[in-house]
Amino acid sequence: MRKNLVAGNWKMNTSFQEAKKLASEVANMVKDEEISGVEVVICVPFPYLSVASKLSEGTGVKVGAQNCSQKASGAYTGEVSVTMLKSMEVPYVVIGHSERREYFSESNELLTEKIDIALANDLTPIFCCGESLETREAGDHFEFVCQQLTESLFHLTAEQLQKLVIAYEPIWAIGTGKTASAEQAQEMHAKLRSHLANQYGNEVAEEISILYGGSVKPNNAKEIFAGKDVDGGLVGGASLDSRGFVDIIKSF
Ligand code: 13P
Repeated sequence: MRKNLVAGNWKMNTSFQEAKKLASEVANMVKDEEISGVEVVICVPFPYLSVASKLSEGTGVKVGAQNCSQKASGAYTGEVSVTMLKSMEVPYVVIGHSERREYFSESNELLTEKIDIALANDLTPIFCCGESLETREAGDHFEFVCQQLTESLFHLTAEQLQKLVIAYEPIWAIGTGKTASAEQAQEMHAKLRSHLANQYGNEVAEEISILYGGSVKPNNAKEIFAGKDVDGGLVGGASLDSRGFVDIIKSF
């Protein structure tokens, strides 16, 4: 179901001590400042999921994993399965982040398997897509990002599709301080929604939350979130500062 959502992606940052401090600060601020009308998720490193869940209990903050294996279980040393996440009651999992696509060779095809196993275990995938600077400069960005959706998601039924969240993250805006303009974000989000509508119909496409990610900061979040097809953000660097992250959430 479409909702406003702001997710922090901590990536491979924080010590255990820092993670506990950050998670409890975010949880307490969200609770004390009575934030409503927006789902708040913190996607913490795997080892901290359990403590982050505990610290978030009763505050409205949910936790998410940053990745999962496409395999159910077995001899896959070092991997983390969705069944493990499910058994820890982790509700969200980021799938297909551009850093995983780039550094760990995750293809659209592999991501179909991760999406399928996450949905089969009742986790909500936050499916990431986005183009490189080269692709944008060549003018192929709409086609490229739509293709990512087609290849990783269009095998799903409408019912399954409505369970996931999409995050558009232009690679050239990640960690660079260079944000897509509010117009560029809205334009791509509208394009993605119409691509979904072509395949699944308007009613289904209108039910999907599409987040923007890439250098979202407290000073630009309001403008970006104002786009009518922008339903929130996936926040990297700025989610490591509790006050800044909560100010981004409050931009709604
Ligand atoms: P930054 O907000 O640090 O640019 O990272 C965005 C991102 O990759 C979130 O998943």
